[in-house]
Amino acid sequence: MTTEDIIGELKLLFFAGSDTTAVLLTWTMVLLSMYPERQDRAREEVTMILHEVLRLYPPILLIGREAYEETELGGITYPAEVTFALPIACIHHDPGVWGEDVDEFKPERFAEGVSKACKDSSALFPFSWGPHICAGQNFALLEAKMALSMILQQFMFELSLSNTHAPFPVSTLQPQHGAQIKLTKL
Ligand code: HEM
Repeated sequence: MTTEDIIGELKLLFFAGSDTTAVLLTWTMVLLSMYPERQDRAREEVTMILHEVLRLYPPILLIGREAYEETELGGITYPAEVTFALPIACIHHDPGVWGEDVDEFKPERFAEGVSKACKDSSALFPFSWGPHICAGQNFALLEAKMALSMILQQFMFELSLSNTHAPFPVSTLQPQHGAQIKLTKL
């Protein structure tokens, strides 16, 4: 590897490892502020909540893949060098896959695992799939579960009146005006 390659890898790890998990926790606090009754239940079970936040507000909205050779997919043959755009957020919001309650925050849809929550178990892919699936997936989920459990044990939280809900794609899906959340010590 050249020095430039190593610098590129380090920049990727810094961006991939920090911004994504931070924005996942931000959207989790926004949604739990909107649905405060969920906070008590969350103190018991955080995993389903994180799946549901990643479904509704995936930190990475879109990923691209390039066909290096002629490739057949779903009965269609694509020539080499075609770029596929995989719209994570669109598939996460498809009522045909998730049902009519697709836009609701319903963590219990994951009560019996991802495969029972939707028509196709690969329809939830906030960390991508395949050989280039996120290298930090387990670490990110462990980190988010630990942080959320610690916050839930010590605080209840609600959206401030000054909060404006404005999901905004920059490189990750950010709240455009920040997330104004009032925390009260339990
Ligand atoms: C909620 C948190 C995270 C989300 C939603 C997420 C999502 C993703 C996605 C969608 C990809 C595929 C990108 C593509 O193929 O274009 C990816 C790749 C990657 N992620 Fe994450 N990520 C998260 C946290 C992390 C963390 C904490 C680390 C490292 C500590 C990390 C390291 C990586 C690396 C190195 C890749 C590139 C893997 C490869 O190309 O082989 N990610 N991530």
